[in-house]
Amino acid sequence: MSRLAYVTGRFLPLRQARVSVEDRGYQFADGVYEVIKAIDGEPLDLDRHLARLDRSLSELRIPKPLVGRALEQVAREALRRHPLRFAILYLQVTRGTAARAHAFPSGVRPNLVITVRRAQFPGEAERREGVAVRTLPDLRWGRPDIKSIALLPNVLAKQAATEAGCREAWLIGTEGEVREGSASNAWIVDGDGRLVTHPADRRILAGITRSVVLELARAHGIEVVERPFSLEEALVAREAFLTSTTSLVLPVTRIDGRAVANGRPGAITRELARLYAARCGLPAEFARM
Ligand SMILES: Cc1ncc(COP(=O)(O)O)c(C=O)c1O
Repeated sequence: MSRLAYVTGRFLPLRQARVSVEDRGYQFADGVYEVIKAIDGEPLDLDRHLARLDRSLSELRIPKPLVGRALEQVAREALRRHPLRFAILYLQVTRGTAARAHAFPSGVRPNLVITVRRAQFPGEAERREGVAVRTLPDLRWGRPDIKSIALLPNVLAKQAATEAGCREAWLIGTEGEVREGSASNAWIVDGDGRLVTHPADRRILAGITRSVVLELARAHGIEVVERPFSLEEALVAREAFLTSTTSLVLPVTRIDGRAVANGRPGAITRELARLYAARCGLPAEFARM
């Protein structure tokens, strides 16, 4: 399959796709994005992703690149041109192309880029063993609820985690609370058996997977509390896991080198992984732990 990129109006072979060096995404990280998974060409939770994209755009006062359902149509067309069983659709919108000056330029149109690639979901070893996370201070700006392409603190945190042999970095806030991962949401099952995750306020990104997992937990009688939890609490939690569009529901079995409970994926984590995979129409193997 030769990959294409949609760049403001047309599909081009990926290698030929270009934006200007004066794209404000390139110069100022002045843009937003979405990552959406698709199965057999059908994007999952597309409405939720497009609603979050709209919110990110409006928070930054970037006009929509396309009106009405046109964005959805282009996204579906991008998937149609990449026949894959499991795909990841990437949408990026920047404020546009203009001579470099910090304040918003007048009269520019936003730039829309769409790409598709094969999805890489966690492999069997990660699912069965769980993954390790390393904690780091949350050095991001004050609005990580906006899905901005300005990801330097996330990049540095992920790199530090990778160098420590960990799959993900958990970002710790000023009160010692676990906010979220560099590219995922963070969860524990506390000492009372309740599922706990940080509230979707301005301190974290409201993950789409997070919203689906919350709904699944509530629908299946798992008690859920949206509240900040501390690193100390996480270290003595019964279970821990992370969620994202590409990581699905993934057990966390080591935090800063210490085992979570007995170091094995927990029962609630396994149940939610199964429910989430089934809800997405993913094969059962993606929930085998
Ligand atoms: C900082 C951050 N938190 C959470 C998530 C999970 O969001 P979603 O479930 O929508 O993929 C992501 C996804 O990339 C992220 O970058």
